Amino acid sequence: MEEVKTIAIMTSGGDSPGMNAAIRAVTKAGIYKGFRVIGIHNGFKGMVEGDMDELTLSNVENIMQYGGTILGTARLPEFKNPEVQDIAVNVLKTYGISGLVVIGGDGSFTGAQKLSHKCEEPKHNYKCNVVCLPGTIDNDLACTDFTIGFDTALNTIIDAVDKIRDTMLSHGRCCVVEIMGNRCGDLSLFSSINTGAESLIVAEKPESLDIDRICQDVAEGAKRGRKCHIVMLSEHMMDPTELAKIIEDRTGVSTRPSVLGYIQRGGTPSAFDRMLATKMGAYAVDLLDKGVINQVVSIRDNKIVNDDIDVALAMPRRFDEQLYKMNEMLSI
Ligand code: F6P
Repeated sequence: MEEVKTIAIMTSGGDSPGMNAAIRAVTKAGIYKGFRVIGIHNGFKGMVEGDMDELTLSNVENIMQYGGTILGTARLPEFKNPEVQDIAVNVLKTYGISGLVVIGGDGSFTGAQKLSHKCEEPKHNYKCNVVCLPGTIDNDLACTDFTIGFDTALNTIIDAVDKIRDTMLSHGRCCVVEIMGNRCGDLSLFSSINTGAESLIVAEKPESLDIDRICQDVAEGAKRGRKCHIVMLSEHMMDPTELAKIIEDRTGVSTRPSVLGYIQRGGTPSAFDRMLATKMGAYAVDLLDKGVINQVVSIRDNKIVNDDIDVALAMPRRFDEQLYKMNEMLSI
C-alpha cells in the first residue's frame, strides 16, 4: 500500500483577511488529493516548538468568512539563526512532513527560503517541498500584483476615511490619517485614489513629505472654499500628531490626527480576497502534488502563476508611478 504523504500549512507574520480561506482551500484540496494535512500553530514559532495538529475537513468548515487566522501567527526574528532552522527541520522530519505551505509576507518568505535550503544541506538531506502564498495587507511583495488581505484592508480604510471625511466636512477641518503598509505605499496610494484624499505622503516618494507644500495646499484650498482636506500619511514617514499641529499652526485650519491602526488588519475578507486565497491555496496543493519544488504562488495580469522562491525574492519592488501621477493630478 502506498504511504499517505503529509503536508503542513502555517500562517506567519502579520495576519491578513483571507488567510482562513487559504487554510481551508489547502486543507480541502490536500485531503481531496489524498494527503494528510497538518496545521502548524503560530508560524515558525510553533514549527520550532512542534506545536501542530492534524487538520480535518470539519476543522476548516465555517472559517472562510472570518478575518484573522485559525492557526494563529507570530513573528520569530530568531528564525534567522541557522541552529533554530536546524531544530525546525528536525521537527518536520519527526512529523514526516514532505510539503509545507507558508502563508505570509516578505519576512515569512525569507524564513521559508532559508528552511528550504536548510533541508537540502547534506547533514539533513531531507526532502521538504516549500510553497509560499502571499498573505499580508501591505501588498509589498514584488512577485505578485496583489497579496491576500490587501483588498479587504483597502476597503476598511476607504470606509473609515469616508466616515472621517463626514465629520471633517461638518467642522471644516483637515485630517492627517495614518495608514499601515510597512514602507510600502500601496495601501496609502490606492485609498487616496478611492477617497479623493487631497494630499498623499508615501515612502516611495520621499519628496512627498514636503510640509511647506502640504501647508500651502491646505491654505489655498481653504481660501477657495474647500471644506475638508485629507492628508493620507503612510506609517513611519512622520508622527501624525506632529504633522497635524504644524498644519494647524501654519494655516489656521483646524487639523486633527487619526491613526487607523489595527482595524486595517481585521474584518470579514472581501470577495476578491476569498477568491484569491482559494485559488492560490488550491494551486499550491497542485504544485505539491506535481512535485514542483520551493515555489511562491502569485497573481500577475489576473493569472495565478508560480516562481522559484529565490527568483521571487530577488524581484525588485515596483511602485505604480502612473497611478501616483494620476492621483497627483486629481488631488488639486
Ligand atoms: O505587515 C503588516 C503590518 O500590519 C504592517 O502594515 C505594520 O507595519 C505591521 O504589520 C505591524 O506589525 P505588528 O503587528 O508587529 O505591530
